[in-house]
This record gives sequence, C-alpha cells and structure tokens, in this order.
Amino acid sequence: MLDSGIKLQKEIFIKTYGCQMNVYDSLRMEELFTPFGYNISENYDNADLVILNTCHIREKAAEKVYSELGKINITKKKLRENGKHMVVAVAGCVAQAEGDQIVKRAPYVDIVVGPQSYHNLPSIVKKIQNNEDVDKVCLEFIEEEKFDHLSTDRSNNNVSAFLSVQEGCDKFCTYCVVPYTRGAEFSRPVQKIMDEAKKLVDGGAKEINLLGQNVNGYHGVDDKGNPVSLGRLIMMLEGVSGLERIRYTTSHPSDMHDELYEAHAVCSKLMPYLHLPVQSGSNNVLKLMNRKHDRDEYIKAIEKLRVARPDLAFSSDFIVGFPGETDQDFEDTMSLVREIKYSGCFSFKFSPRPGTPAELYEDQIAEEVKSARLAKLQELLNEQQYEFNKTFFGKELDILFERVQGDKIMGRSPYLQPVFVNKEEGLLNQIRKVKITKAGPHSLNAELV
Ligand code: SAH
Ligand code: SF4
Ligand code: F3S
Repeated sequence: MLDSGIKLQKEIFIKTYGCQMNVYDSLRMEELFTPFGYNISENYDNADLVILNTCHIREKAAEKVYSELGKINITKKKLRENGKHMVVAVAGCVAQAEGDQIVKRAPYVDIVVGPQSYHNLPSIVKKIQNNEDVDKVCLEFIEEEKFDHLSTDRSNNNVSAFLSVQEGCDKFCTYCVVPYTRGAEFSRPVQKIMDEAKKLVDGGAKEINLLGQNVNGYHGVDDKGNPVSLGRLIMMLEGVSGLERIRYTTSHPSDMHDELYEAHAVCSKLMPYLHLPVQSGSNNVLKLMNRKHDRDEYIKAIEKLRVARPDLAFSSDFIVGFPGETDQDFEDTMSLVREIKYSGCFSFKFSPRPGTPAELYEDQIAEEVKSARLAKLQELLNEQQYEFNKTFFGKELDILFERVQGDKIMGRSPYLQPVFVNKEEGLLNQIRKVKITKAGPHSLNAELV
C-alpha cells in the first residue's frame, strides 16, 4: 500500500467497458486510491492516473481500447512536456487476454493488470511515481485474494448497487473468452457478502444486484462451513432491513436450482425480472457452443420460473451466425423467441475470439448472412419489447428513481424498464408509485400517483 508521504490531491480517471462486473471492479479501484488523496476526474486532461478497465468479449471492444489509448497518449505527451508523468494502466479482460502484447503495441502503457490482480495497483503506481523498476504486467490469478485487499467502504455506490458474489467461469462455451480472462469459478463466503450488503444499504443502496459470470452457480459457505446456494443467499438477503430490491445476473440455464425457484416464489424483494441467456434456439448450435443445456431444458426452466412467479419477465442474449448455423438453426432461434416472449434482449453477431475453439471451427458464416439474421432477430425482439411495454399503459408500478436526465428523472420498474417522470424535488433515490402514461418501444413515461 502507499504510505502517507505521497502528495495529496491527485487526479484519477477510470473508463469502464463491458459488463457489470467491470463496473463493480472500477468502483473498487476508485476506493483503492481515494485514501491517498486521489480525486475522481470526469476526463483525463490533467490526470495523474488513467485506468482503462477493459472488456474482451467481442472484437470491436479491444479495438476501441487501442484507439482510446492512442488518444490518451497525446495528452500524456503534452503533460510530460510540462514535467508531469501521467501513469496509464490497462485493467480488465483485454489486459488479462493480451498481456504484454498491449505494452508492445502501446509502449506508453505503464501497467497491465488483470481482473484478479488489480488490488496491486496502488503499490505499482507508487513505485512508478518513485521511478522504481516494476513489472509492467501483473496478471496473477489468486482466487479470493483480491476481495481481501479491497476497501470495505461502500459509500460511493448508487441507490442501485452491484455486489460481486461469484467470479470466473468453468463452462467453457466454445465462443467465449471469459473462462480465460476471469479464471476458474469461485464463490465468496456468505458472511462477507452479508456484511457488504449491509454496508451498501447503510451507504444508501435500496437495490442490490448480485453479480457473477455464472451467478446462479454460486456455491458459497456459511460460518459453519455449510454450502449455500444462490437461492438460499437471496432468502438470507431478504432479511436485510432497508434493502428493498434484489436482482441477480448473469445466470446459466443449467445452474437453475430448486432453492432459486423457491426464492422467486417466496422473496418479495426479489424483482420479477430475469436475464437468462440461451444464445440459440437450435439444439445443433447449442451443442456446438458447448452450452450444456438443450432447447427443451431451457423452456422447462422458464416454465418452472413462471409457476414460481407468474409475472416474471425474461431477457436473454443471442448469438447469430455461429459457425455451422444453418437457415433452419436460425429459424429455431426465431421460433424459440416467439414461444418465450421476452421483455427485451441483447443480440450479437458471432465474433471469433482468439484462443477459443469456435475461432477455428470450419463453416464460418459470411458477414452478410450474419447481418441479415441479426436484423431479422432484432426486429422480432424489438417488437416483443414494445408489446411488453404496451401491457403497462394506464397501470400503476413502483419505480426506483436513479438518475436525473434533462428535465426528467429516470427510474426502473420491477421489470427493469426505464421509466421517465417530470423532474421533482426529493424524488431521486426513492421508490414511488407511478401511473404509466405512455409506453414506447424502449421506455415508459409516467406520472406520480
Ligand atoms: N456470463 C454471462 C455473460 C457472458 S458475456 C453468460 O454466460 O451469459 C455476455 C454475452 O456476450 C454472452 O451471453 C453472449 O451472448 C455474448 N458473447 C460472448 N462471446 C461472444 C462472441 N465470441 N461473439 C458474439 N457474442 C458473444
Ligand atoms: Fe462465457 Fe459461457 Fe461462461 Fe457465460 S457460461 S461466461 S457465455 S463461457
Ligand atoms: Fe467483458 Fe470481461 Fe465482462 S470480457 S463482458 S468485461 S467478464
């Protein structure tokens, strides 16, 4: 850790790419530096430390990072002319995947640090500022250790806060980099999660979104060493006073379990919305993807969830143009979407990722075919989202108001829809009942009741 001799009032700029786990990690990075006099800056014009917390999930993500680094280097050079050393760090999944390639391609990068080793940042930064020699690339993979080195202060969170409970992935879907960038699956102990949840609530959080690359595969232990599932953990969190809403993301269909179905039935704080990615509706493609579940198992999981909580809204991720995907396979995806009826989804063209098996599969699909399939799928998904939104016209919903946007305040419905009302004093960070006055394709408008 840094000692107290360091100059106060430095500026840190962090840019976050990718998933919610990166958002969580970026907040923790902020907390690592605030005790040493670093203020958060909205830009890097005069920053002492710039951290890009990166994502490697699809091709363009890494390219965006390199292009951003190029721009940062222009500022870094300008500051250097004025005698100031801007330290540039690349963290996150591109860092883990590309390692010293980053320093080769962008030699002005001072530090490359992986998602499981960013707790080392303060000591590395201090050494650089003291002109000591450092290993530029720090990609250790020591499970749990990271969390033991992070601050337990949770006062910089939003009213809707993230809480990482599980990290890594052992599923090895054939298209995905996550098992390589985040490492093996591990679950944090129950007590640490309960403590963090209480801290978040004390810091003003009313909603907690439990995070994990495979969050429903959570298998932590309680103080007595007994195994605890995600369903059980949610039931325990239900008892945290001041906490009003619980969500969890992202889930894998084959990790659904009885206690989780039960949690959806009995926990009133567990919101009626679930992101349960299926990727494809074709059994052939699911097999090639190594998804470990077939179409019917997915549908059965959804049916059980709907029995537990009839108003549950679903979203999913889809990949189109996976190697070998035929027109019929794609039609199977379309028919699955028609059967489930989603409230809103994410869909992507398959992007071959370095080091993953699917990168080397034959039968790669032509770009025009991928684009055409994606457009067709997105048209259907957009239609479904609009239909879903329209069912709320004239109805009352409880909204958690999170953000001011111009002359409106944006909040989230229990089903995660963005809902806008006219700005009003005292509304921010509150849960209030509204009546829906307009249902658009992507959001709702409302007035307070
Ligand atoms: N752990 C989560 C999220 C993984 S990444 C899960 O298992 O669902 C988020 C999404 O990115 C995936 O669900 C998938 O739809 C998409 N994705 C991952 N790798 C991809 C690739 N190589 N090409 C296109 N989309 C990809
Ligand atoms: Fe990637 Fe599959 Fe793991 Fe999700 S379950 S993180 S898609 S390997
Ligand atoms: Fe991206 Fe890593 Fe998350 S690759 S999606 S930031 S786990």
